[in-house]
Amino acid sequence: MRLVILGATSAIAEATARLYAAEGAAILLVGRNDQRLSAMANDLRERGARLAETTVCDLVSEPDVMARLEEFAALAGGIDHFLIAYGVMGLQGEAEKDPAAADAVLRVNFNSVAAWSLAAAAYFERERRGTLLVIGSVAGDRGRRANYVYGAAKAGVAAFVEGIAHRFADTGPRALLIKPGPTDTPMTRGMAGRGMLWSSPEQIAAIIYRQARKARGPVVYAPWFWRYVMLIIRNLPVRVFNRMDI
Ligand SMILES: NC(=O)c1ccc[n+]([C@@H]2O[C@H](COP(=O)([O-])OP(=O)(O)OC[C@H]3O[C@@H](n4cnc5c(N)ncnc54)[C@H](OP(=O)(O)O)[C@@H]3O)[C@@H](O)[C@H]2O)c1
Repeated sequence: MRLVILGATSAIAEATARLYAAEGAAILLVGRNDQRLSAMANDLRERGARLAETTVCDLVSEPDVMARLEEFAALAGGIDHFLIAYGVMGLQGEAEKDPAAADAVLRVNFNSVAAWSLAAAAYFERERRGTLLVIGSVAGDRGRRANYVYGAAKAGVAAFVEGIAHRFADTGPRALLIKPGPTDTPMTRGMAGRGMLWSSPEQIAAIIYRQARKARGPVVYAPWFWRYVMLIIRNLPVRVFNRMDI
């Protein structure tokens, strides 16, 4: 197993990498923070990773994603699973006042993810095997006043990954979108109201790790019950939805 992770220092990505390390995988960690990546690589080697390499990359401003992905493949000795885990929540209030702030959130969460997904799809198509794993969000299922800029980017990513899965249909490679519900990570630090519906990064990681090999459809909710929660939320009449503070 050879895994490449974009945004490896994310809490969900780190928990996922530990599961791959335990099975002796070769792992390439890609992110912006060299020190944190190196510390993580040491930890993964101790946990059993056959290889844990790091490479520094600002994933939004990489000018040639196709060429860079080939470099990642060379460093990892090939790619079986390619996990896109980075993201930013951004500040909704700021994005509403400043189109540049909205654009920054859209570029991190949608445009750049789309570019890396296309690069990975081309690589896997050529190899005739491999799995693209992208972390979306339940926030993409219905626009809410609290975070619709981030949510719109995640909705775009959902359509994009479903499209790649359709492109791959009946061929070797696979594409999978994982949609977590609220998860206790640095991204949500400061958000109020942690309750029963919240998950830990380890819970989401276990779902990613398991479903990367098992999932039949292109979309996995994490945990599973979010599929039904979002089914209800998507189907609430506008009158009811508008009165809700969610
Ligand atoms: N937490 C939740 O409630 C939740 C729910 C649903 C979906 N998700 C999604 O899950 C994924 C992982 O999020 P998380 O909660 O684990 O967040 P996190 O711990 O805050 O990690 C976010 C990561 O994204 C990286 N990143 C952001 N912009 C980058 C860039 N331009 N280049 C390289 N790396 C960049 C950050 O790197 P730096 O450390 O260098 O800033 C950080 O490692 C994201 O796609 C997020 O949208 C999260």
